Amino acid sequence: MAESRDAVKIGLLGCGTIGSGVFHLVRKNAAGLTEAARRPVEVSGILVKAIDEARPFEVDTSIMTTEASSLLDDPGIDVFIEVMGGTEPARSYALEVLGKGRHLVTANKELIARHGRELMEAAVRTDAQVMFEAAVGGGIPIVRPMELSLGGDVVNKILGIVNGTTNYILTRMSAEGSTYAEALAEAQQLGYAEADPSADVEGGDAASKLAILSSIAFKAGITSDQVYREGISRVRPEDLDNAAELGYAVKLLAIAERAEAGVSARVHPTMLPRSHPLASISGNFNAVFVIGESVGDLMFYGQGAGSLPTATAILGDVVNVVRTMGSPPASRRSYWSRPGEVLPMEEVVSRFYMVLNVVDRPGVLAKIAGVFGDNNVSLESVVQKGIGDGAQIVLITHGVAERSFRAATEGLEKLDVVLEIPSVIRVES
Ligand code: HSE
Repeated sequence: MAESRDAVKIGLLGCGTIGSGVFHLVRKNAAGLTEAARRPVEVSGILVKAIDEARPFEVDTSIMTTEASSLLDDPGIDVFIEVMGGTEPARSYALEVLGKGRHLVTANKELIARHGRELMEAAVRTDAQVMFEAAVGGGIPIVRPMELSLGGDVVNKILGIVNGTTNYILTRMSAEGSTYAEALAEAQQLGYAEADPSADVEGGDAASKLAILSSIAFKAGITSDQVYREGISRVRPEDLDNAAELGYAVKLLAIAERAEAGVSARVHPTMLPRSHPLASISGNFNAVFVIGESVGDLMFYGQGAGSLPTATAILGDVVNVVRTMGSPPASRRSYWSRPGEVLPMEEVVSRFYMVLNVVDRPGVLAKIAGVFGDNNVSLESVVQKGIGDGAQIVLITHGVAERSFRAATEGLEKLDVVLEIPSVIRVES
């Protein structure tokens, strides 16, 4: 049925890769969008840094402005879509929008992961809505399923491949035997990795996404700086070969877990059994594996970045906002005001893979095993690879608190028979 109500007016804050994708889809899918939202939707103004910029999709430049106030002060705009990225001026604009009781849809993971609490509280004061499906996993619907579909369950664990750049790099290293540096250069050539790849490869991007998912899952505000992070730059092709021999794949996982001792939230390279559904996620795809107390295992898979997948998630939020405009928001997320407690990494229990370059002579293994034993670290498997100058011990521990494992590592470094410890990777059961 055709919709005859007035169009909902959208203000687009930012118009790069994602913003131009939003503009494109609003026009291209106008009929379906109107049907889903139950009102026509139109982009009536766009804030840009420069009007004449190259964009992946054609955008109507006549509605562009470089003056933020001409959009933010326009009383005719009902919903603002923030796709500028970064925390400032995005945060100030978002607070201004919400302060005026206008709704905010954002793809900005840093904004939510750092300032979620402030934004949720501002929204509650004016009955505005804040939506951020696109901030985690690009086009994958994960925020709304976590908030609403799993609202009646208890989420015990989240394991996510939430960074496509690093998954692409690890996939190439594993498939081609290339080094980290070679795979990164290839990812940059293909446009998957930024010229400055640090936010992706050092785990910051994944940490922001995990902070958001953990806040929703554990019903407390968890910020990105509470998430432990370790990137992929020290993963070596040899480790991927060893992992494959042992029946594992190596992935940069974002892991949040509710355990007896408390909640953990961490991003690090992880050896994952090949039989785990996440082990087969290759290339620049993302996937989030959720374990609910009652529902059991769930997995969400798709494109975690890119113009149109991300724009699709944004339009899904717009549909939700428009459908419920005038009623109280579906979720006030008051839990975001409760500071989330996260276990210090020293208390988190993991299994560990470790490689030691050693002197090849009798009694070496006994000395190594002694240090582990002294620190209450139990070994699950130990193999020697290579002989003479190339002798290496490759081992996997049982589950142990990080504190004990670190103490054992310090003890091993002091042994004269241990020449170097080139690699340590956590192992997920
Ligand atoms: N840079 C991210 C990635 C996408 O590589 O997955 C945006 O969050």
